[in-house]
Amino acid sequence: MLISKKIEILDSTLREGEQTPGVSFTLDQKLALAKRLDAFGVDFIELGHPAVSPDVYEAVVALNDLDLKAKKMAHGRASKSDINDVAAIGVGWMGIFFGTSPLSLKHKFNVTKSEALDRIETAVKYGKDKGLKLRFTAEDASRTDLEFLIQVGQLVQKEGIDRFSLADTVGCLTPTKMKGLVSRMVSELDIPIHIHCHNDFGMATANALSALEAGAQCVDVAINGLGERCGLPPLAEVVIALTNIYKVNGNWNLGLIPELSELVKAFSKLDSNANQPIVGKNAFTHKAGLHVKAVIKEPRSYEAISPESVQRKRHFVIDKYTGNSALNNKLIHLGISVTPKELDTILIEIKSHPEKLNWDDKDLISLTNSMGIKS
Ligand code: COA
Ligand code: ZN
Repeated sequence: MLISKKIEILDSTLREGEQTPGVSFTLDQKLALAKRLDAFGVDFIELGHPAVSPDVYEAVVALNDLDLKAKKMAHGRASKSDINDVAAIGVGWMGIFFGTSPLSLKHKFNVTKSEALDRIETAVKYGKDKGLKLRFTAEDASRTDLEFLIQVGQLVQKEGIDRFSLADTVGCLTPTKMKGLVSRMVSELDIPIHIHCHNDFGMATANALSALEAGAQCVDVAINGLGERCGLPPLAEVVIALTNIYKVNGNWNLGLIPELSELVKAFSKLDSNANQPIVGKNAFTHKAGLHVKAVIKEPRSYEAISPESVQRKRHFVIDKYTGNSALNNKLIHLGISVTPKELDTILIEIKSHPEKLNWDDKDLISLTNSMGIKS
């Protein structure tokens, strides 16, 4: 499906990620993240929207001075002032956005479609005259009339835009609808298509992958899925799915995924859910006896992603769900050998304490000692 295609990753942790409620990165944090993202191997790093505030403006200046392999992009409105900011800072790429849905035209700008086309054309022309590489984002593209969206795409392509981005700004598409929309836009335009998905219905990663299947070339992600409201597709989910499911070799340094996630958890003070794929505390932890028994024999029985591939470790929980084999495996690890009868007795004891959420090594050693079983 995607193996031979060129797939690019644009990380927006420093821009959309900072739009997460309660998040404000310091300059040092942004510099640290940009360097690690570059080491990970993203293709684009979105530095920020200079017009937001003086510290964001300064951060874009400082980030732009970094010597990175990744292409640097600044974000801005389809307005001369935002374009002037980016040109003044000297960022090579600018992501210009303009809402194209009926809701945007009416309530954000109070313009007709032709007035919107005029504003977009003027902004793109102005940006190209400034020598910027430009990505145009049709904000709220998923709720834009398709014919108008095609008109917008053809207009900005004519004006020399380098990339065209479709934003599912409220995350309302399904993978099937996404595939239809992106396939159509790919057939209508000659320039690479980017995709910007939101997770309001919990489908951001699936929609992003569907867009790539349909021919999009670049996908916006954020570490730990940060972003407005429910955020963007998490970097880890998209990249591991591309690697493991689509067999795409993106030359990404997958071993950095836990470090990137931990950095953003620390900087944002937002922990990721324990069950978040790949980076969550439980992502490689097995509990029920059947699962543990099978994974001990053949990890792939219940693991489509090997923890080692992302520098993480596998864990087993011992509680009322455990089974003979899982328990015996744990005891052997602790150097405790038991008879089948003793094993049954220990298991009965564990299952008689449903309130105990995990029997750790200490618990098991003291339990077996209390039964006169020496380790
Ligand atoms: N293109 C061109 N002009 C735009 C625009 C766009 N995409 N979005 C808003 N504007 C105009 C507004 O029409 C308004 O113009 P006016 O002063 O002539 O009425 C002006 O920009 C101010 O817009 P407003 O919505 O009031 O923004 P703000 O003054 O609160 O500033 C920012 C907010 C831009 C500084 C920043 O905090 C922000 O919201 N950035 C959003 C980035 C974003 O969400 N991008 C999504 C892309 S997927
Ligand atoms: Zn967004």
